[in-house]
Amino acid sequence: MFTLPDRSTDPRLLRESILHTVQHVTAGEHNLVANLANAASIMYHALAEVNWCGFYLFDGTELVLGPFHGRPACIRIALGRGVCGTAAQERRTLVVPDVEAFPGHIACDAASRSEIVVPMIRAGVLVGVLDVDSPVVDRFSADDVTLLEQIVAVLMSR
Ligand code: SME
Repeated sequence: MFTLPDRSTDPRLLRESILHTVQHVTAGEHNLVANLANAASIMYHALAEVNWCGFYLFDGTELVLGPFHGRPACIRIALGRGVCGTAAQERRTLVVPDVEAFPGHIACDAASRSEIVVPMIRAGVLVGVLDVDSPVVDRFSADDVTLLEQIVAVLMSR
């Protein structure tokens, strides 16, 4: 059994704890889907004010829904479409403080108000994206960007 980080911990310690938990739970495991599934669970349960957290995997043509926690989501996203497809195409993290102000945003859960998408790249090859949604406007800070990029780096190292 794995222990989940306690959400009520001081924010800096909580971020460290989430990263360490992902490192611990994925250590020695090479199966991508298993690691993404556990990482989605850890982030969903440990991060405050998050209503969707998961991954889209690049199949060579488009992004296809992967392991996630939250309400059922759209299955396929073309490169360049929505926040996920844009982050994947541009290969950079996108923070959207207000999804209603992002042209082309794809609404999967009507509750989502802000969003962050981090591309997953291994050895120069696009693997997919990490997508985290919040029901709160402007939920994601620079510290959250750092944390989620560190989590993606751990996952890509397995
Ligand atoms: N909002 C995303 C689509 C995925 S869902 O949020 C889970 C986008 O615009 O790409």
